[in-house]
Formats: sequence, structure tokens, C-alpha cells
Amino acid sequence: MSLSDSRLELVQGDITKVTADAIVNAANSALVGGGGVDGAIHRAAGRELLEECRTLGRCPTGEARITQGYKLPARHVIHTVGPVWQGGGRGEAGQLARCYQSVFALVEKHGLRTVAFPSISTGVYGYPLEKASRIALREIRAALERLPSVEKVTVVLFTPWDLEVYRRALAGEPEPEGGLGR
Ligand code: APR
Repeated sequence: MSLSDSRLELVQGDITKVTADAIVNAANSALVGGGGVDGAIHRAAGRELLEECRTLGRCPTGEARITQGYKLPARHVIHTVGPVWQGGGRGEAGQLARCYQSVFALVEKHGLRTVAFPSISTGVYGYPLEKASRIALREIRAALERLPSVEKVTVVLFTPWDLEVYRRALAGEPEPEGGLGR
């Protein structure tokens, strides 16, 4: 199932199966792989991805690094490190926004035309889905305004519920009071 809004599309699925110039990884600052989407991307890309990541050193929260995609259908992986949710008073919103901005800076630098994002920080890092989805879509829309050369941005949601929350955010529905528990 997919919901598209011209160059921005929401789909449910597994990002490791997506063919794009780049898929985005929700990494940790050590860039050594992990669980969640990070684990799935490293498993699908193969050992060479970790070997290249090891040459990059640490990636601070909010920044992004680009590698090859190796065995993935995507040409590149752009690794970004989202904030760990600590209640909202530690600058998490700004750090999450910077993840998207940092990814698009690399998209522009490398002349990439299609990019797919997971829902950064909303898994292990505990960022409330309602809040994160609005930051993600705001930053993606701003980047699409700024970068006419980007043909397609896809947000790949892992579960139907995540897709529904992003759909509501894309439709401009107000964030429910107190969030919906995630
Ligand atoms: N495709 C798309 N989305 C996925 C996939 C997948 N194959 N697997 C998981 N997800 C979704 C999760 O359901 C969640 O909505 O990615 C989103 C981000 O969740 P995490 O992968 O847990 O990432 P994050 O919350 O940013 O935490 C990052 O987790 O795996 C470790 O090394 C990683 O330390 C880092 C931390």
C-alpha cells in the first residue's frame, strides 16, 4: 500500500528491498551496525558495508555519512544517527530535524535523485511516532522545495500502524493530545 503526494511517497515495507539511489540507515554513532533497521541493512548489504563503516570513525547525533550499498538494491546507504528520546526537553526535536537535513546535504552533494527513509529514532531510540512523523515530513517537504533535482523521496514504514500515523501527519491532521502511546 502506498500514499503519494507528488514527489513524496509513504509505503509500508522493508527498506532493504527498496531500489533507490540511496536508502537511509537509522544508525548509532559508532556506525557498527545494531538491531532494527540498522541490523537489517547490514545483513542485506553484507560484510563489506561494515568494513567501509569502520573507515568512517564516529558519526555524531544529527550528522550523516554515505557509503556504498554493496549487496543492497540501493546504490548507497546514508547512515544518520537520530536522538534518543529523553522526554523532549533535551533538544531532541532539533537533533531529529538535523538528521533529515544532513541526509539531504549528502543527497545534494552526490547528485542523488531518489532516496528512501525509515522512521528515524522511533524504534529503539523511543522517539514518539506522532512527533517524529511531523518532523520528518516537514523536513522532507522543505528539502523537496529546495532541491528540484530530487525526483522521489519515499518513507518506508515497517508496520501498518506506522504508515497510518505518517498518513495522518501527511494529511495535516493535528497531533492527538498526549500522543497515541508511541
Ligand atoms: N525497513 C524499514 N523500517 C524498519 C526496518 C526495515 N527493515 N526494520 C525496522 N524498521 C523501523 C522500526 O520499526 C522503526 O519504526 O525503523 C524505525 C527505526 O527503528 P530502529 O531501527 O530501532 O532505529 P532507531 O529507533 O533510530 O534506533 C537506532 O537502534 O538498531 C539500533 O544501531 C541502531 O543504536 C541504533 C538504534
